[in-house]
Amino acid sequence: MSDIHRLIYVSAAREEMTPAQLDSVLAVARKNNEPIGVTGLLLFHDGSFFQVLEGPKNAVMRIFSAIERDPRHSRVIVLQTKSTDTRAFPNWSMGYVNAHALRPDQKAHLVDLSHLVGRDEQATLSSSPAVSVHINAFLGSFREFADI
Ligand SMILES: Cc1cc2nc3c(=O)[nH]c(=O)nc-3n(C[C@H](O)[C@H](O)[C@H](O)COP(=O)(O)O)c2cc1C
Repeated sequence: MSDIHRLIYVSAAREEMTPAQLDSVLAVARKNNEPIGVTGLLLFHDGSFFQVLEGPKNAVMRIFSAIERDPRHSRVIVLQTKSTDTRAFPNWSMGYVNAHALRPDQKAHLVDLSHLVGRDEQATLSSSPAVSVHINAFLGSFREFADI
């Protein structure tokens, strides 16, 4: 069965986010995502957001279209949009991971992704094999965490 859709994007925060501002994004995300079966992960590091959204396709797309229009960030670039059998973060209506808590190998995948985002044509990123190698390794590194 592959009835789960996963969408991953990166974006640039318009201004530095305080912990209180991040908390309010997360509170709204959890309130909206949970009832429609959307789970995922949000990371904020160095002015950039990295977010994974997983769930029924129409729910993921509805949430993402609101996120895309959010004035708190810009340059929203989709890195992956595909159907999948398994949620990487089944237990998190929107988990937040502090970038400082990432292991060096996890950070390395994010740094490599950000280089690819800086270098490649945005339109081709979500079909780039190099992007998916780093994404799969990064998501896989959370398995023990995410309880799957
Ligand atoms: C980086 C970022 C991530 C967000 N993630 C979510 C999310 O996962 N789910 C969600 O409903 N809103 C999310 N939002 C907020 C939406 O952009 C939007 O403000 C919200 O969906 C509006 O919900 P409301 O109509 O209940 O106030 C996010 C915003 C930002 C800036």
